[in-house]
Amino acid sequence: MCGIVGYIGFREVTPIVIDGLKRLEYRGYDSAGMAVLTNSSVKILKRAGKVADLETLTEMHPFVSTIGIGHTRWATHGVPNDVNAHPHVDQTGSIALVHNGIIENHGAIRQRLERDGITFHTDTDTEALVQLISAFFDITNNLEQAVRLALQEVDGTFGIVVISNREPDKLIAARRGSPLVLGINDGEYFVASDASAIVGHTRQVIFLEDDDVATLTRDGYEVKTLGDEVVEHEIEEITYDIEQIEKGGFEHFMLKEIHEQAQTIMDSMRGRLILEKGTAKLGGLREVMPVLNNARRIIITACGTSWHAGLVGEYMLEHYARIPVEVEYASEFRYRDPIIHEDDVVIVISQSGETADTLAALREAKKRGATVIGICNVVGSTIARETHAGVYIHAGPEIGVASTKAFTSQLVALSLLTLMLGRNRGFISIDEGKQFAEELLAIPDKVSEILKDTSAVQELASKYAGANNALYLGRGYNFPAALEGALKLKEISYIHAEGYPAAEMKHGPIALIDENMPVVFIAPQDRIHEKVISNIQEVKARKGQVIAIVNHEDDVISQMAGHILCIPRTLDFLSPLLTSIPLQLLAYYIAVHRGCNVDQPRNLAKSVTVE
Ligand code: G6P
Repeated sequence: MCGIVGYIGFREVTPIVIDGLKRLEYRGYDSAGMAVLTNSSVKILKRAGKVADLETLTEMHPFVSTIGIGHTRWATHGVPNDVNAHPHVDQTGSIALVHNGIIENHGAIRQRLERDGITFHTDTDTEALVQLISAFFDITNNLEQAVRLALQEVDGTFGIVVISNREPDKLIAARRGSPLVLGINDGEYFVASDASAIVGHTRQVIFLEDDDVATLTRDGYEVKTLGDEVVEHEIEEITYDIEQIEKGGFEHFMLKEIHEQAQTIMDSMRGRLILEKGTAKLGGLREVMPVLNNARRIIITACGTSWHAGLVGEYMLEHYARIPVEVEYASEFRYRDPIIHEDDVVIVISQSGETADTLAALREAKKRGATVIGICNVVGSTIARETHAGVYIHAGPEIGVASTKAFTSQLVALSLLTLMLGRNRGFISIDEGKQFAEELLAIPDKVSEILKDTSAVQELASKYAGANNALYLGRGYNFPAALEGALKLKEISYIHAEGYPAAEMKHGPIALIDENMPVVFIAPQDRIHEKVISNIQEVKARKGQVIAIVNHEDDVISQMAGHILCIPRTLDFLSPLLTSIPLQLLAYYIAVHRGCNVDQPRNLAKSVTVE
């Protein structure tokens, strides 16, 4: 995700900011920039590309300053280019701001300010915020107060740092939902989105809390609430090393990304559900809505984990939106001379937005006249640019090669699409829609509940780390979850694993079952629960080792299975959002037990840009 570094003190600011931004590079970004106060004015340098490009720019146009802010941007609103890069300035050019997070009501703020005659220069949600602060600054003549008043009007998430030449000895930082840490040293203060950016300078830090607004000067700092009450935070000492900080204290990026999912699932749906109407809105699809609502058929094409998300999408869309859906491997689709009609909609799903086969499938579908929609994580990626319309999943950069949080966010995007199309086409009632929306909103807490205690998965992992094979079985929405669970295991632990529809087991895989074969059943209490119970009995009869992912209240399977991993209940079509979490953890802990390189498994690449 985006990164922030700020400094006020007695040293030259440029090397401090550039070095800090370099330490945040691992998080992924597409542009970088910095602003300083010098000679009573705000000076900005920013550009699409790497921090090294920004550094070159600062060498060509050196600053002389001891106060400044820097940012690495991972695009969410607006393509990654020089203009949309942070910092952003207000209309008068006297306030500069860097921002992590998403301002959900930026459209309304922007419209209001434009009505008041303010001109915007970028497509970003961030510009709406800096212009709003500026409007309040004109009234209050006090930067800190202006920031607090503006933030009171904001819906969404933010970690921000603001400077202004009108109050040149001050740096204001505030957060809600996006981390910010203050660094404290003699006569100098730092602020960063991640301690790794500043730990080289100081280990004395304060972790800001939601709705904190901190004012830093060369003489000290003060933290207040948005409501103007002073708050005292303890100064903490950072004792861990930089690599540990980057991973947020987790041993691997994959584990960190697994644990981020309550947040990333929320980010994927943020601002997109309209509860009172029991529906969803996906701004990026606005222009293709007539085609989508009347699609004769939807073809979903993707690779790997994204293809599995597509399979879940097929089940959802057919059931609730009543549109025929086909799901194809992109690598097959591109070469098999597919029949495409002009009223077909092709959905390409890709975390990276760069997968060569998926890109080729997209081009093939376009050539044949289909409307093509993308579901991507990386803003401005090739697939995102070449599709007619799309949905960003806002999962943030995924660094572990094995996809985890991008998968669950893809499922959220598909759920939102299903809800919207089902409502538009009259197959989901408003009450049913409301129930879906409420249940979607409840998912992050249920994910947190699963992640709160992973000891049962860890215990299981140590028991099965020596297995040579594993079978993953599920039905309905959890058949693709079984495929994904098996893929996770083979990707990172190198154990051979197969995913199958549970009933299909009888037609082959059952021959493999003996007392050494772990069989993972994904068996929440859904419409076909009874059928899965029969399949479990078939495995037990052949002495297979049954591991079952079940709901807490499932007394039947709990009695039958050798091991259970419990998850909360949800609606059937949302259940893969929960069942996939213990599957990811199981693969992760087994791989760790086997001493595998979890984040960079052998032979695999994060982004496969070759055929
Ligand atoms: C690679 C990655 C997988 C990913 C697949 C598709 O194989 O290792 O994790 O699912 O590519 O990538 P995409 O970026 O298109 O979703």
